[in-house]
Amino acid sequence: MSYYLPESVECNGEIFKIFITKEQIDARLSLLGEELDRDYEGKNPIFIGVLNGSFIFLADLMRNVSIPCEVDFMKLSSYGDEKVSSGNVTELKHIDAKIKDRHIILVEDIIDTGLSMNYMLKKMDELEPASVKVVTLLHKKEATRHDVTIDYVGFEIPTKFVLGYGLDYAQEGRNLAQIYVIEEHT
Ligand code: IMP
Ligand code: MG
Repeated sequence: MSYYLPESVECNGEIFKIFITKEQIDARLSLLGEELDRDYEGKNPIFIGVLNGSFIFLADLMRNVSIPCEVDFMKLSSYGDEKVSSGNVTELKHIDAKIKDRHIILVEDIIDTGLSMNYMLKKMDELEPASVKVVTLLHKKEATRHDVTIDYVGFEIPTKFVLGYGLDYAQEGRNLAQIYVIEEHT
């Protein structure tokens, strides 16, 4: 398969430049997969992806895991089409899987303020899983102000707007195979 791997892209009138390459993503996911294999041996976990942003990361992450596991999705919206969070969470799709007494791995593309993940963790508590852990591809550590414990992080990044590999700007750019960062106006 040959991917489209430009050095910079335009999306909705903004210029984005390469930030994390496909090679770097692949290498990190391979290590995360090994960690998950070790930590979840014999536990048959359920990966729960937070839609839409996590779909590409989750698909690639699961293919780096070799233990038996399942997958389900939940859809949240907190952003609208803006570059900053609107501050409230709406549940657009519920979880279908039976969560009680299961080992749950919540999968996010990015944790920014932590609002969405904080909501997911509270939701999980009510459903009485055997355990809950959080994996995120990206973490904007300095922007996180809600209480979330993150167990596995792909990359810690600065508080800048990023695009690609599932992450969108006004719904576009999710199909890019690498991660790009917005070019700041000077
Ligand atoms: P939080 O609830 O503030 O942690 O935001 C989490 C959600 O906001 C993520 O799942 C993304 O969908 C979106 N988001 C946060 N930062 C970015 C970004 O830099 N680019 C694209 N989407 C983002
Ligand atoms: Mg998201």
